[in-house]
Amino acid sequence: MPNDIRTLSVTGLASQLIEARQTSHTLLNCFCTALGSEQLAVPFKENLNPPLWEFGHVAWFADYWIARNPGRSHGRQYQPVAHSPSALASADGLFNSATVAHDTRWQLPLLAIKGIQQYLKDVAIRTEDCLVSDMAALEIPNRPDASHSVIDNASYFYRLALAHEDMHAEAFYMTAQDLGFPLPGTDRPPWAPAANESQHQFIEPAAETAQASTFRRNELVARPQITIPKQSLALPHPASGFFFDNEAEALSASLEDCEIDTEPVSHAAYAAFIEDQGYQRPELWSPQGWAWRERHRLNGPKHLSLSNGRFCRQWFGQTLEIPDWFPMIHVSLYEAQAWARWAGRQLPTEAQWVAAAQWAPEHFRWGNVWEWTASTFLPFDGFQPHPYKEYSAPWFGDHQVLKGASWITNNRLRSLRFRNFYKPHRADVFAGFRTVDALRNYGDSLLNSP
Ligand SMILES: [Fe+2]
Repeated sequence: MPNDIRTLSVTGLASQLIEARQTSHTLLNCFCTALGSEQLAVPFKENLNPPLWEFGHVAWFADYWIARNPGRSHGRQYQPVAHSPSALASADGLFNSATVAHDTRWQLPLLAIKGIQQYLKDVAIRTEDCLVSDMAALEIPNRPDASHSVIDNASYFYRLALAHEDMHAEAFYMTAQDLGFPLPGTDRPPWAPAANESQHQFIEPAAETAQASTFRRNELVARPQITIPKQSLALPHPASGFFFDNEAEALSASLEDCEIDTEPVSHAAYAAFIEDQGYQRPELWSPQGWAWRERHRLNGPKHLSLSNGRFCRQWFGQTLEIPDWFPMIHVSLYEAQAWARWAGRQLPTEAQWVAAAQWAPEHFRWGNVWEWTASTFLPFDGFQPHPYKEYSAPWFGDHQVLKGASWITNNRLRSLRFRNFYKPHRADVFAGFRTVDALRNYGDSLLNSP
């Protein structure tokens, strides 16, 4: 990917950081327009943050790990040091996500909108000043003897802050979709042909998928699949460049051969499950999934209605018709598992997903929706937390791995290595799924592999 956060040159970092911050300002302005109050008040929900808190947190994160961090040149080798005080009084008590609990964020004396805007601007200036002086001190990129590790360490926290800002940008789109108001680009949904020319990557369907829209279950098995031969998968993190702590040391697994969908499950295929009373049949659901469905009295997926064979989707405050070939989106892990059981299939493990993407990159299509996998989010062997130790470790064991990327994921973040993770009930994520055949006995070793 161009401008991949992992390999982007240090000379390109400054412009990408500026671009990401401009996006944050644009999004904040859109939130002001949509929410129209001085405090950008939104209902208390487990999947949301108060927007003013979240914009302030984006600024705080960069400031804390870059300008306020005397140990930043050590990168992921950083040993804890005392960070310098914030120029913004009580910033740590307001915006540190590791210490300010989610519930508490709704009761804080946050800054007014203008104060948050100024905080974002001030931190951007400090970040840029640090970047210029750090690179000048190392004579990067002109110093031919600078080792990869010196450059990687010197640029580590800048890449981390850039990735962090991009992840929150996607979270702001999730918030707007949840609350039903537009953001830049949402008037051109990812299934519209015009979206091809937008900044967002659009993955067109294979021709046979677009033509094979059908609600008939027996045709589901004819959905395009590829066979991945038995293999030993090894995806080590690269010798140089940026990576997240949860990607090190390596993803490895012994895989039996399997047939995997070349594309995520479409709206048409999902509709067949709904029409076959999938939401009324507990035997298709895990106990936790059925309890979740019961608790929310769901008879279908979030944001979707179906009438006369046409799909209408709530899309950032509008009701839009969505083509039946487009990947199913906004489903929880529970719904994905129930569909797979109904279809006589199962979700791929994380290792199967990566193996297929590597084995047949020209056939394996991903990038419109995050994809739930069968793998619990767990550390790879040899895991060591990076300095931002709350990024991964607190979430091992009760979150599920999603692979790929969504229509709104910044191109800088797209990578086969990326491990996204959410709790199973989250249907507000731009997530769908694909399946593998369930006819073979994969054995315990595979089921336990990441
Ligand atoms: Fe964050």
